[in-house]
Amino acid sequence: MTARQQILDTLFFGREPFAGFAWQDIPRDLQGWHSGHPYLTRAIGEVRPRVVVEVGVWKGASVVTMAKEMQRLGLDGAIIAIDTWLGSAEHYKEKFVADMDFEFGHPRLYRKFLANVCHEGLTDYVVPLPLDSINAYELLKMRGLRPDVLHIDAGHDYASVMADLKAWWPELAPGGILIGDDYFKAGFVQGLLGKEKWPEVRQAFDEFFAANAHTVFESGDGKCLVGKPR
Ligand SMILES: C[S@@+](CC[C@H](N)C(=O)[O-])C[C@H]1O[C@@H](n2cnc3c(N)ncnc32)[C@H](O)[C@@H]1O
Repeated sequence: MTARQQILDTLFFGREPFAGFAWQDIPRDLQGWHSGHPYLTRAIGEVRPRVVVEVGVWKGASVVTMAKEMQRLGLDGAIIAIDTWLGSAEHYKEKFVADMDFEFGHPRLYRKFLANVCHEGLTDYVVPLPLDSINAYELLKMRGLRPDVLHIDAGHDYASVMADLKAWWPELAPGGILIGDDYFKAGFVQGLLGKEKWPEVRQAFDEFFAANAHTVFESGDGKCLVGKPR
């Protein structure tokens, strides 16, 4: 049995989430942020994971990057793609209205994500899990599913990032790799006003990994990569 089928059996009683989904009329739209980052493909190549967890999926651009690499390497593995598909606080802005694609006040992001995975021919590598981060963590822990590679890209405020790290880091398998999004070194500024980018994300990561053993901690181009000791 494939790793993906085992995950489907464990989480969805064997049901196939993509079955019957009419994706052809939904345009491919892989807008995202740092979604083709080299840390994502590097983690897949170094760990050769059976289970990948991404927390914070949006339209699926970073899932697609990792799934394509798993496909290229011929790995028996799947990405559990966790999101409420409701967006984050920062997405409630006029410029994101088209992306959120509200229907009666409710975003239609989930359909865009599913369609993108179908357009890319990657359904064999993806299992969507439409829960919030902490409920998903509880479910996976209950069912004994531990990630070998973990990508955290959900809430970007201090409390959310710290909660995600406290929940998910202990679940990462020994020797696994965590990638965190929107980690910028102190002093990295943007715009005319010289505003720091996502300082609360950095604060949470720096505090958490000052207190938790890890092998490597690298950062660049808006992500960090952390290794878990064996
Ligand atoms: C920045 S986007 C993810 C971008 C995506 N990884 C990419 O590369 O394109 C953040 C996503 O996190 C989701 N999100 C925010 N807080 C969450 C939470 N507590 N649990 C699950 N998903 C959450 C939002 O719905 C949104 O889709």
